[in-house]
Amino acid sequence: MKGLILSGGKGTRLRPITYTSAKQLVPVANKPVLFRVIEALKDAGINDIGIVIGDTGNEVRSAVGDGSRWNVNITYIPQEAPLGLAHAVKISRDFIGDERFALFLGDNCIEGGVSKLLNGFAASDWNAQIVLKEVVNPQQYGVAELKHDGSIERLTEKPRTPRSNLALVGIYMFDQHIWEAVEAIKPSWRGELEITDAIQWLVEHGYRVYPYVHNGWWIDTGKRADMLDANRLVLEELEPRIEGYVDRDSQLVGKVTIEAGAEIINSVIRGPAIIGEHTRIVNSYVGPFTSIYHHCQIEESEIEHSIVLEHSEIVRIPHRIEDSLIGRNVQIHTSPMKPKAYRLMLGDNSDIGLL
Ligand code: TTP
Repeated sequence: MKGLILSGGKGTRLRPITYTSAKQLVPVANKPVLFRVIEALKDAGINDIGIVIGDTGNEVRSAVGDGSRWNVNITYIPQEAPLGLAHAVKISRDFIGDERFALFLGDNCIEGGVSKLLNGFAASDWNAQIVLKEVVNPQQYGVAELKHDGSIERLTEKPRTPRSNLALVGIYMFDQHIWEAVEAIKPSWRGELEITDAIQWLVEHGYRVYPYVHNGWWIDTGKRADMLDANRLVLEELEPRIEGYVDRDSQLVGKVTIEAGAEIINSVIRGPAIIGEHTRIVNSYVGPFTSIYHHCQIEESEIEHSIVLEHSEIVRIPHRIEDSLIGRNVQIHTSPMKPKAYRLMLGDNSDIGLL
C-alpha cells in the first residue's frame, strides 16, 4: 500500500497564521500535525508516501525533506489550486499507479495508531473503506448512512437534516477503482471535486465500500479552538521527559516535558505542558495544556491553554494569556513609552482579545 497526504488547501480558517505558513506545520505538543500523520503511516508499514502541496509547498518541502528522517520515501505532488480533495487524488494517479492506498488529510489528528485498520484493508477485497466517527453535530460534516449489511449506502456533505450521526474522519482507503470515480464526477456548487461524490459514485456503481467506526478522539485542526483541543489531547498522552535545565527555584507539577537546551528559571510549569528546545522561561507561570515551541522567551508572564510557535517572545505581560495561538517571531511586551497606550502591528484577520 502507498500513502497519500493532502497538504495543500487555503487554510482560511486559521488566518493570519496561514498567510505565512502551512497549517499542517502548526505544531501540536511541539510536533507539526503533518509529521504526526507521516509517523502514523510509517507505523502502519507504509514507506512510499505522496504529499499533495499547494501555495505553501516550499515550506512543506523544507520541513519534511525527502523523508529520510522517518525512513520513508516522500514524493511531492504540486496541485495548481485547491480544487478539492478528489482533485488532489486525481493528480496523484502517476504516483499511486494501480496500488491500494490510504488517503489522509494533513491537518487531522487521530488518537492511536492506524496499523490494524490499514493492514485490514490491504488484505481485504473491498474497493474502499472510510473512517467514521459518531459526532453530536453531524450537520457540520460529511455524513454516512449505512445499509443493513454494514456497507455504505449514501454520503451527504453537511446535511441539514442528517440521517445518521456518523461523520467522515479524514482517512480513506481505496483501490484502483477510485480512478474511474474521480474522472466521472463533476465539480460541486463550490467548484471543488468532492471526495464524498467520488465515494458515492463507487457505491452507486456497485463497488464495495465499507466503514470503520473510530472510537477514540479525532480532531480536524482547521480552527484555533480545534488546534487547542488537539494540543490538549496529545499533551495528555505525552510521556514526560526533562532534557533541559530547571533551576532550584522552579517547580514542575504533573506531566511536564522540557526539551533539550530549554531553561526554566524561577518559574512554575504546571502540566500537561511542553517547553521546546532552547526556550527560556524566566519568572513566569506556564499552565496546563500549553505548548511553547523552540527558541521562545517567556519572561515575567503567565500563559495557559495555549500554543506558541517558534522564536516568539512574551515579556512582562500583567494579565494571564489563555486560549491563544501565537505565531512565529511574535513579540508581546509592555512598553514604558508615554503616552500609555496599546501599540499594535497586526496582520490581516488577526484576532485580539484585550481585557
Ligand atoms: P480543508 O480543511 O477542507 O480546506 P482548507 O485547507 O482550504 O481550509 P479552510 O477551509 O480553512 O480554507 O482541507 C483539508 C485538507 O486537505 C488540508 O490539509 C488541506 C488539504 N487540501 C488539499 O491538499 N487540496 C485541496 O484541494 C483541498 C480543498 C484541501
